Amino acid sequence: MSSVRIRRIGLPGRIAAITLCVTATGLVHVNSSSAHASPKITEEAWGSTAEGQVDRYTLTNGKGMRVRILTYGGILQTIEVPDRRGRLANVTLGFDNLTDYVERSPYFGCITGRYANRIANGQFTLNGDPYTLPINNPPNSLHGGTIGFDKHIWTAAPFTRGSEVGLVMTFTSPDGDQGYPGTLNTQVTYTLTRDNGIRMDYKATTDKPTVVNLTNHAYFNLAGEGTGTIDDHLLTLNASRYTPVDPTLIPTGAIDPVAGTPMDFTKPTAIGARNRVNFEQLVIGRGYDHNWVLDRRDNTFRKLEFAARVLEKGSGRVLSIYTTEPGIQFYAGNFLDGTLIGTSGRMYRQGDGFALETQHYPDSPNQPQFPSTVLNPGQTYQTTTIYQFSTGR
Ligand code: BGC
Repeated sequence: MSSVRIRRIGLPGRIAAITLCVTATGLVHVNSSSAHASPKITEEAWGSTAEGQVDRYTLTNGKGMRVRILTYGGILQTIEVPDRRGRLANVTLGFDNLTDYVERSPYFGCITGRYANRIANGQFTLNGDPYTLPINNPPNSLHGGTIGFDKHIWTAAPFTRGSEVGLVMTFTSPDGDQGYPGTLNTQVTYTLTRDNGIRMDYKATTDKPTVVNLTNHAYFNLAGEGTGTIDDHLLTLNASRYTPVDPTLIPTGAIDPVAGTPMDFTKPTAIGARNRVNFEQLVIGRGYDHNWVLDRRDNTFRKLEFAARVLEKGSGRVLSIYTTEPGIQFYAGNFLDGTLIGTSGRMYRQGDGFALETQHYPDSPNQPQFPSTVLNPGQTYQTTTIYQFSTGR
C-alpha cells in the first residue's frame, strides 16, 4: 500500500492535510482532518469602557468558520465564512477597535433592545400607564433609546456541546432603564453550529408588565465587508406583505401587499434593481428600510420558519435566515455615508451592507392590531433566529 500526503487543497481555515491511501486493491481512502477538526472557543481582553473590561471571544467550528463576539453589546464583530472554493472572507460590517463601536457605530452586529426599531414619539401606554422613552432618532425612539442593549457590557459564559460552540450572554436591565418599566433579565445564546449556522436564542423575563422586541443588527456583504455595494446581491423574502411607513419611518398601521411594487422580493431579485425607483416608500426610506410581514404557517411564533435568502453570485455565498419572529426589517445601509472606516480599513458608503433584522413590527406598543410585544411577569419572552451560511447559485 502506498500513501501520499497532499498539503491544503483549497479547503478552508486551519485544515492541515489530507491523506490519500491507495491500497493494493486500488481503493482510495480519503482521510480529511477537516471532517474531524474540533470546535474551539478562545477569549481575550479587548479594551474597556466606563462600565469595565470588554472581552472578545473567537468561536471556530469543525469546518473552519470563525465568528468573533464582543461582550460589549453582544456584538458579532466578524463572521468568516467560506465561498464556493472554500476561501474565507469576513462577511459582516464592523470595526477593528472598541472606540469606534462605542462612539460611532450604526448598530453594527449588536443585540438591539429593549425595543428593536422605532417607537413613535418615544411614547406608549401600557395598562393605562404612560411611558416616555429617549428621543434618539427625532421625533422617535430607536433601538431601545440613547443607551440601549448595544451599549452595555454583557456577561458571557462560553460552552462546547458536541460539535457546537457558543456563548450564553446575559444582561439585567433595571426597572425604568431608558424609560421602560420592569427589571428585564435578558439572555441571548449564540451557537456556532457544525454546519456554518449562527443560532441566536433570546430569552427575557420581567417583574412588571413591559414591552420587549430583541434582535441582532448585523450588516452583511457576502462578497466580504469593504468590497463595495450589495446592489447585485439577490434577495428573497418570504413575505407577500409589508408595513408601509410615514415620513418619520413609523408604520402607518396598514399592512400592504408587495405585489406589483419594488417591495416584492418573493422571487430572487437584485437589491439594486429597483432601490432608486420613484416609489413613495423608497423615497421616504432613502431606499429599503421597512418591515416585511413574514408569510408564516405558525402564527403562535414558536416554530422556526424560512424568512430570507441572499445569494452573492461572485463568491457563491448564501445567507439563509430562519426565525420564530413575525417580521423582518430589511435595511439596505442607506445611511452609510463614507464616514466610517470598517474592519479591513476600507470606508463604508451607502449600500455597502444590508441588515435583515428579525423582529416584531416597529411601534407595536402603539399599534394594537400588530402582534403583541407585551411581556408580563411569569411569562418568558423566547425567540430564535438562525443565520445559516452555505454556497449556491
Ligand atoms: C433602521 C434604520 C436605521 C438603522 C441603523 C435600522 O434598523 O430601520 O432606519 O438607520 O437601523 O440604526
